[in-house]
This record gives sequence, C-alpha cells and structure tokens, in this order.
Amino acid sequence: MPSYLVAGASRGIGLEYVLQLAKRADAVVIALVRNPTKSTHLTSAIAGLKNVHVVAGDVTDYRTLELASKQVGEITGGKLDYLIHNAANLDMSTFFKGFDDYTDVEQLDSDFIDAFKVNSLGPVHSIRAFLPLLRASSTKKIVVIGTAGALPEFARFIDVSGTAAYTMTKAAGLLATTKYAVQLKDEGFVVVSLNPGLVNTLATAVNDSALLRVDSDFC
Ligand SMILES: NC(=O)c1ccc[n+]([C@@H]2O[C@H](COP(=O)([O-])OP(=O)(O)OC[C@H]3O[C@@H](n4cnc5c(N)ncnc54)[C@H](OP(=O)(O)O)[C@@H]3O)[C@@H](O)[C@H]2O)c1
Repeated sequence: MPSYLVAGASRGIGLEYVLQLAKRADAVVIALVRNPTKSTHLTSAIAGLKNVHVVAGDVTDYRTLELASKQVGEITGGKLDYLIHNAANLDMSTFFKGFDDYTDVEQLDSDFIDAFKVNSLGPVHSIRAFLPLLRASSTKKIVVIGTAGALPEFARFIDVSGTAAYTMTKAAGLLATTKYAVQLKDEGFVVVSLNPGLVNTLATAVNDSALLRVDSDFC
C-alpha cells in the first residue's frame, strides 16, 4: 500500500492532491493541516473516504511535526513512501507588496520573516521530521511544490517587482529542496521541486476578492 503525506492539505492545491491520491484504492493518504477543526473544505471533501487520515502539524513549529511523524508511523506501520510538501504563505494582505510598498521597515522585516518561516524553513522542517519514515521505505520520493515566481529570469520576464516576500522566500525554499536532493541522492532518494503553474484555487480560498487578482498577473 503506497503511503503519501501532503503537508498543507486544508485547501487549494494540497487538498486536490489528497483527493486525487485517495482515488487509488490501495493508497494511504495523510493530510497534514495546521488546524484540523478549521480545515472545513478538507473535512467536507474527504467525508466517507476511509483511506485519508488527517494529522495536525504546522510547518513553522517543528515540535508539532515530530508529533505528527509519530502518528503517521502508527498509521502506516513505520514508513512513508511519498512526502508532498505543499504548504505556503500566500497571505493576501501582503502577497502583492514590493519593497517600496512598506513605509515601515519593521513591518517589512516582520512580513518577510513570517513568509520565510513557512516558505523557506517549512520544507526543511517537513523533510527533517518525516525523513526517518521516508528512509524506512524503498520508494524515497520527496516533492516540494515551488513556483516560477522564485526564478530570477521569470521576475524579469513578467517585469514584476511586487510579490517580493513570497517569491524571495520561495526561492530559498527551492534551494533548500536542492540541498536535500544533493544530501540524500546517495541513499536513493529523488527530491524535486514541482511548479504547478497558475492554478485557480478560488473554490477553497480564504479571501475570494483578493485572490481574484492572482488570476490576472502572478504566480
Ligand atoms: N495557486 C497557484 O496558482 C500557484 C502557483 C504557483 C505555485 N503555487 C504553490 O502551490 C502551493 C499551494 O498553493 P495554493 O494556491 O493551493 O495555496 P493556498 O490555497 O493558500 O493553500 C496554502 C495551504 O498551505 C497551508 N499552510 C499555510 N501555512 C501553513 C503552516 N504554517 N503549516 C501548515 N500548513 C500551512 C494552508 O493551510 P491553512 O488553511 O491552515 O492556512 C493551505 O492549506 C504553494 O506552495 C504555492 O506556493 C501555487
């Protein structure tokens, strides 16, 4: 039975991963969410699906991921085949800002550090916490969901200086993924970053009106 863990599975692309993977009758799918009771889109979407397990974990809080790893081991019998790290900070109150949109540099620092914790350290925390379970499997596959926005050439191509915190911190997350790919290759791991392209996640969005703007210009 292949086992999959999707980190950041409450809504959007992560939720869709859960639903599509759960269609495989033999799959065990773990939906890692930071707040199970508030993950209402996930709860209603997986009602009746017996091969989906919801586990709590915040990718900025390593202790919660250690607890999650224990729970996942109990569900899967001590291994994990695929880790899909999808969680990201797309906080629409700050998402579109460029450096000069901040009058207060302390606010700039605070927003960038918040984004860094999720988008850059998040993948590091996830991979580190679930590595013992991944090592116990012969599959050894790790996917971190990236974005074209993390690439300097794309920023020049679309000629956009905004989305600075999101794209800078996703770029650091991409390099973290690459570092793990190098570190783990001799153990037989495949560690990749996948860019989903522009995906309309309005159906499960927290803030519809702001996300509508994403459709037109970014990601
Ligand atoms: N949509 C696009 O067009 C697009 C384009 C390129 C790349 N991407 C990438 O695709 C991925 C998913 O994007 P999306 O559009 O589906 O975003 P989304 O709808 O905003 O979903 C983000 C997910 O991450 C979770 N999350 C945020 N902070 C977390 C934390 N600290 N710990 C655990 N989970 C956390 C959220 O959970 P809560 O419900 O608890 O907030 C939510 O489930 C991201 O990595 C994004 O960078 C998206």
